[in-house]
Amino acid sequence: MVKIDINSFFQGYMDKESIFENKKVLQSGYTPDNIPHRDDQIKEVAGMLAPVLKGEKPSNIFIYGKTGTGKTLSVLHVVNNLTKIAASKNLPIKISYINCKLKKVADTEYRLIATLAREFGKEEIPITGLPTDEIYRIFIKHIDKDSNSIILILDEIDQLVKKAGDEILYNLTRINTELKNTQITFIGISNDLKFANDLDPRVRSSLAEENMSFPSYNALQLQDILNERAKEAFKKDIVTEGVIEKCAALAAREHGDARRALDLLRVAGELAERKGHNKLVISHLDEAESKIENDMVLETISTLPKQSQITLLSIFSLYEKKGKEKFFTGDVYEIYLGLCDKVGLKPLTQRRLSDLIAELDMLGIINAKVISMGRYGRTKEIGLAMPQSSIPNLISQLKGWLNV
Ligand SMILES: Nc1ncnc2c1ncn2[C@@H]1O[C@H](COP(=O)(O)OP(=O)(O)OP(=O)(O)O)[C@@H](O)[C@H]1O
Ligand SMILES: [Mg+2]
Repeated sequence: MVKIDINSFFQGYMDKESIFENKKVLQSGYTPDNIPHRDDQIKEVAGMLAPVLKGEKPSNIFIYGKTGTGKTLSVLHVVNNLTKIAASKNLPIKISYINCKLKKVADTEYRLIATLAREFGKEEIPITGLPTDEIYRIFIKHIDKDSNSIILILDEIDQLVKKAGDEILYNLTRINTELKNTQITFIGISNDLKFANDLDPRVRSSLAEENMSFPSYNALQLQDILNERAKEAFKKDIVTEGVIEKCAALAAREHGDARRALDLLRVAGELAERKGHNKLVISHLDEAESKIENDMVLETISTLPKQSQITLLSIFSLYEKKGKEKFFTGDVYEIYLGLCDKVGLKPLTQRRLSDLIAELDMLGIINAKVISMGRYGRTKEIGLAMPQSSIPNLISQLKGWLNV
């Protein structure tokens, strides 16, 4: 076995000059000063909120658009500026941003209102235990003590409804009718277009007094966004010709998603650096793309129930064994029975296994084509939905999780 001199590895790593000038610029928490191609949306949101500076109540706004279209970034940009102006003029404007995806904050109606009450300075709120009506009452009484204009941003609001139920939106919008001194303006943001379309008409008319949609970026717009960031993120002359264009094109393939574009560029840079390369070239992007894809698949698989993981392991093992040869549900079932035995789990029927296979197909992890066998019924022909090169790693991960 070759002994690795880890010390000299670290030393070498430190001596090597990084290709990054400031990697943070490509990370998700970074807020750029400049937001290309969102002038119209920023102006529109600013215009809708401006009346608050004169003590009037702005309309409630509902913002929707696909993921990575700059919704959160643009809204925060507007309200950060609004906060500064309000503070400099001593105006009683309070702005609160809640990301409803965060579990601890908004997984129940009670928790959301308790969080809000705490946000606005009401301490000693019990974590659970009070009836929901009571927590509303405490919150309303507290914020209505003085006269304030509150702007409440509920980002990923579809997640809130998913976890806490439909009624919550209705209840929220009714708060204003009970306030005498204070007024709340709601800004709801969602990337779930179906949710936006399906909003209850009662809720729609109050929560979405104004609607705004954020269009996806096209490849040229993504190039501008990437160029701005790459200039700050990488040292000079590191990014070679065609890289930004290819990165934008890859990210625009499904829909123009700036988050995906920035992730690709960051991961490509990290891969280049890890290999000790001092230029970022197109092949790094291709590698980054498959790495990101693999990581996503892995994350999905890690959250699957045990039975589905065993099914998947059976399919992958079979694939390794059979190579290009076709295989069907019955073949998977044989391997599956053996694995259940090893894991000590009661096997499902072949019919149920067939359902699990269909679910894995829906998730896009495998391809399962239903084929008819005449009077012998139907079966599924099973194939991979990912590059063959990912399989060994997935097999060893699955084996680790399942302890086989
Ligand atoms: N016009 C832009 N200029 C610079 N960076 C941008 C722009 N639009 C988006 N980004 C960046 O892309 C990433 C995603 O943007 P943002 O979080 O605003 O998307 P979103 O529309 O809220 O997506 P989601 O629906 O998934 O929450 C962030 O890192 C953001 O900084
Ligand atoms: Mg967002």
